[in-house]
Amino acid sequence: MIIGGSASQKLAAKIAKELNTTLIPIETRKFPDGERYIRIKGELKDEAIVVQSTGYPQDENLIELFLILKNLKSMGIGKIRVVIPYFGYGRQEKRFKTGEAVSAIIIAELLQFSGADEIFCINLHEDNITEFFSIPAYDLSAMPPIADYIKEKLQNPVIIAPDKGALGFAKEIAEILNCEYDYLEKTRISPEEVKTKTKNINVKGKEAVIIDDIISTGSTIVNAAEILKELGASKVIVSCVHPVLVEDALLKIFAAGVDDVFATDTLHSEVSVVSVASMVADALKKPRN
Ligand code: R5P
Repeated sequence: MIIGGSASQKLAAKIAKELNTTLIPIETRKFPDGERYIRIKGELKDEAIVVQSTGYPQDENLIELFLILKNLKSMGIGKIRVVIPYFGYGRQEKRFKTGEAVSAIIIAELLQFSGADEIFCINLHEDNITEFFSIPAYDLSAMPPIADYIKEKLQNPVIIAPDKGALGFAKEIAEILNCEYDYLEKTRISPEEVKTKTKNINVKGKEAVIIDDIISTGSTIVNAAEILKELGASKVIVSCVHPVLVEDALLKIFAAGVDDVFATDTLHSEVSVVSVASMVADALKKPRN
């Protein structure tokens, strides 16, 4: 039995199809003052899978998720497995300055308090977030479906991480595709501004595919794309797992000379063409202790 929150209805439907299981309709709406209303319709079984990304508007999507979980528990559901394809508030996983709220820990605690028994996320911004849960929590990788998509579209790609943090993604894809990979060095100046060092990477005449976990303002990608173009890449293709795409991020990226952008459907966007439904279904099917 699958329930899709309002941020992940299409993905929930796809996962239900992959698992050949029932998609339970829910009514979710807002009261005139902005507060959330949810009602779970349909016949419930003993175990439920809830799918809800907690991207923008993060607070609303989180509240909706908490309401769904608590409601299911109070309706007598024994086990709730929660799929959070994009885990919002995942960027603050430690206290950098005295007095800061460690939002990732707080969200993990609230999910457990709300009744989650198992958590499945995709490419969490920081690996250690799964450790904040005292219930089983899994961080799945979307690199295999992204690699499959690249394989379909390109003959001889070279995979580029726009910063060292994304190097693991580039390596994972390159190993699947048996191709070259490299990374650029980025320094973040502010939430909106980054600096990327030019580096001598062998992309001349090649199709360079940039891979990152998140595209937010697009600044990271713009810098990387400009460097790859300067180095003579024949094409620059951009890929990411979570297309957060704040404001005119896509426009900025295309204006930097990028040939194509694609992402997964952990978040809705016009570039969400790679579905994670089948890998999530496989993870849910996998026997676990
Ligand atoms: C950084 O650690 C992430 O992996 C992404 O590179 C970052 O979130 C992208 O942000 P923006 O698109 O704003 O440069």
